Amino acid sequence: MSEQDPQGRLNQQDPAPARTPAAGRTPAVARTPEELARLRPGLGRLALVPTMGALHIGHRTLIAAAREQADSVAVSIFVNPLQFGPNEDFDRYPRPLDADLAACAEEGVDVVYAPAVETMYPGEQMVTVHPGRMGGVLEGEFRPGFFDGVLTVVAKLFHMVRPDLAFFGQKDAQQLAVVRRMVRDLGMGVAIVGVPTVRDPDGLATSSRNAYLSPKERESALALSRALLAGADASVTGPVGILSAARAVLAAAATAAPPVSVDYLALVDAQSFTEVPGDFRGDAVLVVAARVGETRLIDNVPLTL
Ligand code: PAF
Repeated sequence: MSEQDPQGRLNQQDPAPARTPAAGRTPAVARTPEELARLRPGLGRLALVPTMGALHIGHRTLIAAAREQADSVAVSIFVNPLQFGPNEDFDRYPRPLDADLAACAEEGVDVVYAPAVETMYPGEQMVTVHPGRMGGVLEGEFRPGFFDGVLTVVAKLFHMVRPDLAFFGQKDAQQLAVVRRMVRDLGMGVAIVGVPTVRDPDGLATSSRNAYLSPKERESALALSRALLAGADASVTGPVGILSAARAVLAAAATAAPPVSVDYLALVDAQSFTEVPGDFRGDAVLVVAARVGETRLIDNVPLTL
């Protein structure tokens, strides 16, 4: 595959097979756990796709994968205040609910769960789910409390929706690993399915936050996928070679206009998210987080060493 096809080179698995959307099927919209409970008996084997809305092709791919494996698909749309830090973009996070409902109808979603903040958090959330040490590194270090917020809302969604399976993007690789661990450690009985990252043709991983990027910022941001590609191309050289190939791309991007300011670049064990030693063999993930202008972006590529 050529340099012009970063999606194919960065994704190790094929994306979920596309299914013809059940055009025009209007999903039932539930706003409360009680409304969900009334719908649940008719849904059979149920897949949940948890989202914060602003649905894009990455979410549509999750929904298509979910439809392949379940009788019914529920999509939750909830911008979760618990996972945003005080200086993050909670207020300006996009909330295009009508467009999201239309996207869900096009994708043949059966139920949309769109609760109000007061429904999810009727009072102080005193009891939360703590991710342990996996949640304190990388994203957890740069966004303190982020994974507590994610796990708490995901646990609540699981209790309210009662899915058999739940679908998460590999794009948020640490989130996926931490959710898997929560389900395992707390015996939640929901099968967690990871779906490969969807990329735009220029290589940028799809994200609701890409909408914040100006054209020039977007150009600079492409350094993230280029760095991952350089790392993946160096995988036969082992962890040291992988990291130095990726670092070289990011070092050049640090002097671009606008510059790419790296929060972290790391090669981690795919299950534990601890950094791998130089002689590591097994499944790893090369992860990167960086800021371009006001926008913070994350990306990763899974690698087998
Ligand atoms: O990945 C997301 O969109 C969110 O973190 C999630 C899983 C929906 C929880 O709010």
